Amino acid sequence: MPKPTLAIVGATGAVGTIMRDVISRRDDVWGEIRLVASPRSAGRKLRIRGEEVTVQALSEEVFDGVDVAQFDLPDEVSAHWAPIAAANGVIVIDKSAAFRMDPDVPLVVPEANPEAVRDRPKGIIANANCTTLALIPTLAPLHAAFGLKSMTVASYQAASGGGKDGIDALYDQLSAIAGNRDIGFRAGDVRDALGEGADAAFGSPLALNVVPKVGGWKDDGWTSEELKVRNETRKILGLPSLAVSATCVRVPVVVGHSQAVHATFDSPVTVAQAHKLLADAPGVVLVDDPAAGRYPTPIDAAGLDDTFVGRIRSSLDFPNSLDFFVVGDNLVKGAALNSAQIAELLLPEFS
Ligand SMILES: NC(=O)c1ccc[n+]([C@@H]2O[C@H](COP(=O)([O-])OP(=O)(O)OC[C@H]3O[C@@H](n4cnc5c(N)ncnc54)[C@H](OP(=O)(O)O)[C@@H]3O)[C@@H](O)[C@H]2O)c1
Repeated sequence: MPKPTLAIVGATGAVGTIMRDVISRRDDVWGEIRLVASPRSAGRKLRIRGEEVTVQALSEEVFDGVDVAQFDLPDEVSAHWAPIAAANGVIVIDKSAAFRMDPDVPLVVPEANPEAVRDRPKGIIANANCTTLALIPTLAPLHAAFGLKSMTVASYQAASGGGKDGIDALYDQLSAIAGNRDIGFRAGDVRDALGEGADAAFGSPLALNVVPKVGGWKDDGWTSEELKVRNETRKILGLPSLAVSATCVRVPVVVGHSQAVHATFDSPVTVAQAHKLLADAPGVVLVDDPAAGRYPTPIDAAGLDDTFVGRIRSSLDFPNSLDFFVVGDNLVKGAALNSAQIAELLLPEFS
């Protein structure tokens, strides 16, 4: 059998760029690879697997002969085009939020529920949100051993979670205030230094700041990101009643979503047990040596495949509970790598 044909749709974006890197450094399992984006990018030449490939504008014809398509597109563009690609016989792996909670679309993290790729009545498989993806490789083995009962999360999310526009906005803001040591002391002085438009990308300026709003506003004061952490964790772990409370915060970091987690289990759990389990868990690196000052940080996780966990403590006032800190690159495991792993789970279907 010839190797299957892959399309990367949204190949010019923040995730699409890392998707090309990830595919280029993994096993060479794909035959032809097509790069697709909006008509704005048609004709651009981008590198993948060491070769230049010309970007095509998204159309029904680009899916002719494609076996698997990686969709790295805004929600509304995926919502429109994924069913069209699937109707043409393409297996779509979608990274947007358009299909994640659809009961007929599996939401897959290979470390937790790889078998779910087989049950895809719509021909679409969803890739989880980047915040959830940083959590699951750590939560899945802890849940399997001790039974996850509830979780409270506070996130510290990178600017690149807002795509290439988010990355540009952070660098523009940092450039605008670089070397200015007189600001940050009085309310409004950072806004004045940044000028008009500094709220556009994140809702508030991000330079010298943290912003407790990621995603859009939903009912009762929750944000879409906070609801994604709750709903997607429940779906992936098969725990529809899991108690989850999340507060999602944007921080002035380029890549790497960090999360402070308080998790309660059905059974007693010790730090030593958690260390032993997580040291062997696939996709997880344990970085937890307080005496040596070793703990995970986003700048040490940037560009890497694994998720990192440390600061594991037994909760002082809550039985059967651990507190810990996880960090994962939102563009790598949080997007491109997870969906590359999903696609590789499909390979036996083409052999
Ligand atoms: N950033 C993250 O950390 C992250 C993590 C997990 C999941 N995701 C999800 O992944 C998806 C892509 O995010 P991103 O951060 O890569 O966004 P991005 O940097 O804004 O890139 C968007 C991509 O979509 C293409 N596109 C936009 N409108 C299009 C249209 N009408 N037709 C065809 N192509 C179109 C763009 O092509 P042009 O360059 O031609 O405009 C570009 O390639 C989103 O659904 C996002 O929620 C993002």
